[in-house]
Amino acid sequence: MATLITNIGELTTNVASPDDRFGTVHDAAVLIEHDRIAWAGAASDAPAVPGGFVEVDAAGRAVIPGFVDSHSHLVFGGDRAAEFEARMAGQKYAAGGIRSTVAATRAATDDELRARLRALRDEMLAQGTTTVEIKSGYGLDIDTEARLVRLAAEVTPEVTFLGAHVVPAEYAERADEYVDLVVGEMLDACAPHARWIDAFCETGAFTVAQSRRVLEAGIARGLMPRLHAAQLGPSEGVRLAVELGAASVDHGTYLGDDDVAALAASGTVLTLLPGVEFSTRQPYPDARRLIDAGVTVALACDTNPGSSFTSSMPFCIAVAVRDMGMTPAEAVWAATTGGAAALRRDDIGTIAQGKRADLVLLDAPTRVHLAYRPGVPLVRTVWKDGIAVEGRGRHGALTR
Ligand code: NIG
Ligand code: FE
Repeated sequence: MATLITNIGELTTNVASPDDRFGTVHDAAVLIEHDRIAWAGAASDAPAVPGGFVEVDAAGRAVIPGFVDSHSHLVFGGDRAAEFEARMAGQKYAAGGIRSTVAATRAATDDELRARLRALRDEMLAQGTTTVEIKSGYGLDIDTEARLVRLAAEVTPEVTFLGAHVVPAEYAERADEYVDLVVGEMLDACAPHARWIDAFCETGAFTVAQSRRVLEAGIARGLMPRLHAAQLGPSEGVRLAVELGAASVDHGTYLGDDDVAALAASGTVLTLLPGVEFSTRQPYPDARRLIDAGVTVALACDTNPGSSFTSSMPFCIAVAVRDMGMTPAEAVWAATTGGAAALRRDDIGTIAQGKRADLVLLDAPTRVHLAYRPGVPLVRTVWKDGIAVEGRGRHGALTR
């Protein structure tokens, strides 16, 4: 049965027109048929629906595309609350903390990892995230990395092999040997379950040359590249990602003018991760500078137990608006259409005929409330592939 959402006060389609990049429609309606959007536009133009439909009265509320969270690390054991607490008392974040999660992840059973993964995925969905990318990277041996990509593939097609997350303790002082393993047997075991190849190009993790080896090996195996770079300091990793045609370079907390120019001239998205700066007390990157220079910017949560344990895209939007110079409309664009670009997907991230019916009904009259009312659960109903799955709004669970 089709679903007609009527009486939408503000519909953000993100289908650009000459006078509105965000494709905003007031007094709008959306028609969902099966898993697709059959029609979207001004309510007065809504088509007749032969065969009947379920009507959802939005009562003047806002509808936006489902969030596309293009960067997460959801398969892990344990947590690092004590590390966070120490950081808030003045300690610095360093890449090495990853190793404690590696130990907990190796010790966990598949069922334990799966339960945690599914709970986090559900938590995301309830907050409006309809597509999530998930990385491996807390296994760092062949068996565990293969377990992690397989588990991730149970919940998303957007799986990233991140064997080059950090050098595991048993390879201390032998980083190049570990890279040999990553680009050899570990890649063999993981590539069949992944779509993306990634590396953590950073002091304390992998050099630019090592990251290049990893990405090039993945590309040769048919995976598409993306890269963590410039999180803790300036890095030539950004230029490497652009050179290799990466879909996205992620973090970008420290970017030089050359990096910005290279990104603007490329098809590589810069994915900003405000939860990381929040949780590591790093300076927020200047999204305004990037957008004004013509860089395509995405926003993602980077959900992980170390540097950013939020799963909330609304939280990231609020921080991006408050502290990174984005307008609310730009932040919503980056969290939806921008995320889709970072995953090279054109079937999600906008509300238009033929796209996947992934949308969010907010408990608010406008998208501005996502930043204006930070911390308030404003996601009322979420449709994923045309099915109303959940909403963690103030009105309780599902609104069908
Ligand atoms: O994206 N930067 C590398 N990886 C994660 C952090 C992982 C961790 O600290 O456990 C990130 O921030
Ligand atoms: Fe990350």
